[in-house]
Amino acid sequence: SERTLVLVKPDGVRRGVVGEVISRIERKGLKLVALELRTLARETAEAHYEEHSSKPFFGELVDFITGGPLVAMVVEGPRAIEAFRSLAGATDPVSATPGTIRGDFALEIGENIVHGSDSTYSAEREIKLFFPEV
Ligand code: GTP
Ligand code: MG
Repeated sequence: SERTLVLVKPDGVRRGVVGEVISRIERKGLKLVALELRTLARETAEAHYEEHSSKPFFGELVDFITGGPLVAMVVEGPRAIEAFRSLAGATDPVSATPGTIRGDFALEIGENIVHGSDSTYSAEREIKLFFPEV
């Protein structure tokens, strides 16, 4: 069994789809092992997205992710990382398949509702950053 960090980003909280995202995670058979509503400090956001620090949209990304409360969770199950990325759909919501979270609820790449860790290395790093106690 494997763990991944999932975020319902501030746009997802504003849109009122937190329950919908949690419901899809649970229906898939994945388990919640930690969950919290919180507003990220700038340093936490910069650390979370450090791989994108040289990208032109980095400032916008950090403003967005710190711009309101988000829901952070640790999700567990067999191949949880890939399983959640599959539920989330492609990064660009217009390309994301309908039936996925991004495919069903988003239109803009900068406001794509959810985050899921993309590797065992980033899952471990991100879970430590958000839930050092888990
Ligand atoms: P995350 O799960 O959020 O990490 O998304 P991802 O792994 O599918 O995509 P990636 O890590 O490559 O990019 C991180 C986030 O940066 C994306 O989810 C987008 O919200 C945002 N992003 C990526 N490309 C762009 C862009 O061109 N413009 C803006 N504004 N945001 C972008
Ligand atoms: Mg990513």
